[in-house]
Amino acid sequence: MVFSAIFPRIKPKKPYLCLIEFHNNYRYMDKRIDLPTWLDSLIFEQLGARYERRPEDVQYNPDKGADFVKIYLGTYFPRSYAEAYCIIGQLLENPAYHASLIELEEISVLDLCCGTGGEIFGLICILQEKLPNLKRINIDAFDANIHAVRKLAKLSGEIPHIDEINVEVNLNPQALNIYGEQNLDDIIHFADKKYHFILSFKALNEFIQSKTFPDENVYTKIAGHFLPLITGNGALVMTDLTHKGDSETEFYPRIMNHGINSLLRNINGYRTIFPYPCFFHEDRCGGCYMQDLIQVNHSGAVSDRSKIAYRVICHTDFANHIMEGVSRRKCQINYPSSWVDKALPYNQSSYHQN
Ligand SMILES: C[S@@+](CC[C@H](N)C(=O)[O-])C[C@H]1O[C@@H](n2cnc3c(N)ncnc32)[C@H](O)[C@@H]1O
Repeated sequence: MVFSAIFPRIKPKKPYLCLIEFHNNYRYMDKRIDLPTWLDSLIFEQLGARYERRPEDVQYNPDKGADFVKIYLGTYFPRSYAEAYCIIGQLLENPAYHASLIELEEISVLDLCCGTGGEIFGLICILQEKLPNLKRINIDAFDANIHAVRKLAKLSGEIPHIDEINVEVNLNPQALNIYGEQNLDDIIHFADKKYHFILSFKALNEFIQSKTFPDENVYTKIAGHFLPLITGNGALVMTDLTHKGDSETEFYPRIMNHGINSLLRNINGYRTIFPYPCFFHEDRCGGCYMQDLIQVNHSGAVSDRSKIAYRVICHTDFANHIMEGVSRRKCQINYPSSWVDKALPYNQSSYHQN
């Protein structure tokens, strides 16, 4: 299934909230955004999305039915949109990173476990705001849930037709359940190209829950398989939830940071560029907790809060180049906002607010 649409360029909004420093220049980072009006009416008015927080039900999604996917679309899709928009937006505030992409006319994206694809739309929106030469975005996406993939297919076909950026979403095969190593190799074989962005948003905790790769760190596993697929200026953007599973002893961000740190120490050639402190500390950090907070407004909710952990990884040479202007920092210095708690795991009761 291939869906092609022309994406409208949207006027950049006023940035909000955190300050970040490059060569003693300060720039703002967006952490509270609105879902674009056209996307809001598309999901709520045309696709039947419903806002309804269901923390217990949303824990594991491959087998969810069409009705629950409507709830996912109205509740968790806007959060994923905002997370991608803000994380990539923060990266693009880095002048060296921005300069490395600004000339690009075409960008390739691979989304692993895309679900309804909120992060795809967040990425498209921030790229079209920040990259004026961009003419084409090619997206390959996979997920086990056929109903989620169908919703993404519908969304992709409904992007408003204004002659600006051509977006092609390739959902092939329609649904792909990753059961083991062979499926990962199949995806790599199917992809058969390099990507500027590889996305894995809030999915790997579900691999932990289902014990898809028992006795292995799933973040190590997925990053190890897919990092070789990024372009020289490409990035693997890996995010996950910040609580811990009912049967887990460890919080997901700790498992992610431990897994990524040990992978990057064992293979040469890749480093983390965001959160910035990881660049400076990943060679000896045992895997700390992290949590960032991003808010999104849409017609189903005002200031809906998403708590998220993430790592953005790229080739070492590229990372060194990007980080030239960034001064060495302690773990929490990247997050001057009181909204962010990078030191303390929050407990199950705050998890149940999700
Ligand atoms: C919480 S959802 C996140 C979806 C999307 N990335 C987002 O941020 O909105 C997790 C997704 O991972 C998918 N998933 C979980 N385990 C999977 C597996 N073994 N193979 C393929 N997809 C899987 C689920 O179907 C679900 O759509």
